[in-house]
Amino acid sequence: MQIHEKLKERLMKLGLDETIYEMRTRKCILSREKLNLEKVPWFDGAYFIDASFTNRNDCFIFDPISIIPCLALEPKKEDKILDVCAAPGTKTFILSFMTDNETKITANDIDKFRVRRLKANVNKFNISAEVMNASGRKITGSFSKILLDAPCSGEGMINKKDKIFQHWSEKRVRLLAKAQKKLIQHAFEILEKGGILVYSTCTFEPEENEEAVDFLLDKFDDACVDKVDVNNIVYDGGITEWNGKKFNNQVKNCMRIHPQHNRTGGFFVAKMRKL
Ligand SMILES: C[S@@+](CC[C@H](N)C(=O)[O-])C[C@H]1O[C@@H](n2cnc3c(N)ncnc32)[C@H](O)[C@@H]1O
Repeated sequence: MQIHEKLKERLMKLGLDETIYEMRTRKCILSREKLNLEKVPWFDGAYFIDASFTNRNDCFIFDPISIIPCLALEPKKEDKILDVCAAPGTKTFILSFMTDNETKITANDIDKFRVRRLKANVNKFNISAEVMNASGRKITGSFSKILLDAPCSGEGMINKKDKIFQHWSEKRVRLLAKAQKKLIQHAFEILEKGGILVYSTCTFEPEENEEAVDFLLDKFDDACVDKVDVNNIVYDGGITEWNGKKFNNQVKNCMRIHPQHNRTGGFFVAKMRKL
């Protein structure tokens, strides 16, 4: 399947080109025991695996870039965590690992079929989470930490390029951007004062990334964007202008992680706080 000319143009404006889709990302697992495998540099307890890894059925296998939004959330045992768009549960699993399975995590997703996979993973891996099947815009209550790993155009999932190209259009990017703004607004409304909201996507599109963060900063005077405290990972800061639209300077604190940076999928992470 061919890449869309429009997508190619957009990537070029962001300093990327279609050769990113020739790359293959590496996968990792988490372990509390020391393993004789190469360590993922940005998280103790994560190890790269390769094709020779045999224990596949017993382990949760994922792209190590998924660890970054979870680190940005700074999960603590005493937190009340909401994972708004959680299925199939990769980041719920990582958050549960990071808090020794002792934190109250609500793992939600709107899609009932994906919720089945989420429930299966929660059971199989003993994840400390309560599963919900609702729209992220309808969740009530309040939470000290919220992860919004939003539905997006998925351009960063370079291993699945045919699927991305099949569904890609500028119209879809615009529709997703609209839905993401509604989700981020509601997530911030149910965030406790002093709490952290992490917004992440696996796309490069500024409309789905910096623009969503800029929208939040514009809407709420008590929102700010912090730098993510993470080491040993290569990334660029958020961009402050796209197609003639200028964004709030704080978006520079966001992380743009491109496939060539660390041989992972492409990712965007913003860590926001309620003052
Ligand atoms: C990027 S995927 C989430 C991946 C997941 N966080 C993980 O790490 O395994 C985005 C998810 O958002 C869900 N979704 C889409 N719209 C939603 C909404 N309005 N409320 C809640 N979930 C939604 C989709 O069903 C999909 O599972």
